[in-house]
Amino acid sequence: MCGIVGFVGRQNPVPLILESLKCLEYRGYDSSGIAVLDKGQQLNVVKASGKLQNLVDRLDANLTSDTGEAIQVGMGHIRWATHGAATDANAHPHLGTNRQIAVVHNGIIENYYLLRETLMAEGRQFVSETDTECVAQLVEHLWEKQTEQTLEAFRGVIRETVDQLQGAFALVILNKAFPEHLFVVRRHAPLVVGQRPQAGNQMEYVVASDTVAIIPHTNQVVFLNDDEVVELSPEGMVLMTVAGDILEPKVTIVDASPLQIDKKGYRHFMLKEIHEQPDVIRNSLSGRLLHPEAPIELVASDQSAKAKQLLSQANHLVVIGCGTSLNAGLVGKYFIESLAKVPVSVESAGEYRYREPIIDEHTLVVAISQSGETADTLEAVRLAESKGAKVLTITNREDSTLARESDVVLPVRAGVEVSVCATKSFSAQVVVFYLLGIALAETRNTVDAARLTELKGELMRLPTQLDAYLATAPEPMQDVARQFSHHTSLLFMARGINYPVALEGALKLKEISYIHAEGYSASELKHGPIAMLDDTMPVAAILTPGPLFEKVMTNCQEAKARDARMLAFTSATLDDSMVDMFDAVVPFPDTDELLSPLFATVPLQLFAYYIAEHLGKDVDQPRNLAKSVTVE
Ligand code: F6R
Repeated sequence: MCGIVGFVGRQNPVPLILESLKCLEYRGYDSSGIAVLDKGQQLNVVKASGKLQNLVDRLDANLTSDTGEAIQVGMGHIRWATHGAATDANAHPHLGTNRQIAVVHNGIIENYYLLRETLMAEGRQFVSETDTECVAQLVEHLWEKQTEQTLEAFRGVIRETVDQLQGAFALVILNKAFPEHLFVVRRHAPLVVGQRPQAGNQMEYVVASDTVAIIPHTNQVVFLNDDEVVELSPEGMVLMTVAGDILEPKVTIVDASPLQIDKKGYRHFMLKEIHEQPDVIRNSLSGRLLHPEAPIELVASDQSAKAKQLLSQANHLVVIGCGTSLNAGLVGKYFIESLAKVPVSVESAGEYRYREPIIDEHTLVVAISQSGETADTLEAVRLAESKGAKVLTITNREDSTLARESDVVLPVRAGVEVSVCATKSFSAQVVVFYLLGIALAETRNTVDAARLTELKGELMRLPTQLDAYLATAPEPMQDVARQFSHHTSLLFMARGINYPVALEGALKLKEISYIHAEGYSASELKHGPIAMLDDTMPVAAILTPGPLFEKVMTNCQEAKARDARMLAFTSATLDDSMVDMFDAVVPFPDTDELLSPLFATVPLQLFAYYIAEHLGKDVDQPRNLAKSVTVE
């Protein structure tokens, strides 16, 4: 949540910062702002509430000029509001009272109120309601107290500031006393430094919350760890701990291709990402499932021994995640328990991190996160690690903090997901859980080989079937979506391995259409939710052939008897009397029941998409949300 950018180099920083902020829009879009030092070394700050385009419209073309010679520094921010409404005043960058210091921040300063009171008592004048402003004021306050205003003294100021801050922060700090420098520090919030070699052994630097915002400028990056500080100037990068110990920066060359962002002609990123799912599944399977009779190759050979060891000693998997990732983890639980006979607990990270979980040497934590930066998931994993757990992470971002802090990483390979509403990453996560489950079953001999071969064959055929489905499914879905778009509440129900799909369908609808929706196991209907049903609240049932089909059909009858409008998402062939029960029937391809979530989820994603589109909602950037939830 919130995206920050910094730049040091010999070019106009404004276009570069804007380009990077555009890449970070998924992290928030409540307001944005930019600060640069002009030639007279005045701090120029422009901010605008609302989308990034509002800032672009407000920027004066002469904010700073491209001299091609002088060193220029600047910073930018895109905000997801925590403290204070989405106003111009609350937008970053924030300044000290004397405009000596400018700061952009991602995270939450938990003790901001106390700091603010203290600084106000010292005469500092606050102009916003944000927690961040206290950082700018504190840095400036400490700086003005220095008798010798040297670089060394400013290092001390940063150290003292960090010592006083509680909470999570990634900060870019500009001090007018050092007009060719930026200062960067992180604790529990992501930050990456990109370096771009220039003529004469000089460097340009771009700092950002995420590699996606660096890649347009360079593929050479340094990932920062907690409590590390970086000083950037054309002379180079000085990396040190907050305590002042100098460290050697580790430059990583990142592969730019999976990070490129393009709508490819689709109206929205979400629709494009839904349509990418067959390829994403192929990608996730690639190199891991080569042939139905070949054993699963879960990880690259360099991690293979470690992964094997972790998996062989585990007798309990604890899956930890949030939101859509949590739903994918639930599918994983049904699959792994059914096939590999290993008990799996699925835990909401925000709850887990404040519990007293029971962990022993046979507990394997499986952390699941698209972004790999979700604050609750990271903290839950750190708690488990502190109690001795080993961690296997399933993520779409191999360069994320979570991946770097894990013992073994299983990349889901979905490519960059831009739409705030997760779609393709869910499918990719589910595929990785399938691979994990099959691998466990293979090594533990819990299922006969013929059954595993059958499942693997089905899994390999699935992307082609999904391609065919997606070629025709969207058009009729538009009509179904229109029929249900005026409702203010909707209930999704399913059983077994598709119960998490009902949760996911409800989550998608809520997120992008703002229609209230709940997902239930159909078995729960009579334990309360049925009381809500009447002709204003439709019920969407997910029906797949199998032992629970009749049970869900009975629940559909019960809902129909309460006048609910009925919608079926089904891979079963319904006879005429069954079809008559539903106001609309949306078919999807049939497959092995254990694999059916990969098909069942897609029409639910399309349903949510077309309802939101019909209602004229901002599909890719729904209100109040941000893609990467880096604060708790
Ligand atoms: C829903 C959605 C969120 C995320 C959740 C966890 O469409 O995107 O519910 O799934 O915030 O995010 P990650 O997977 O990045 O940890």
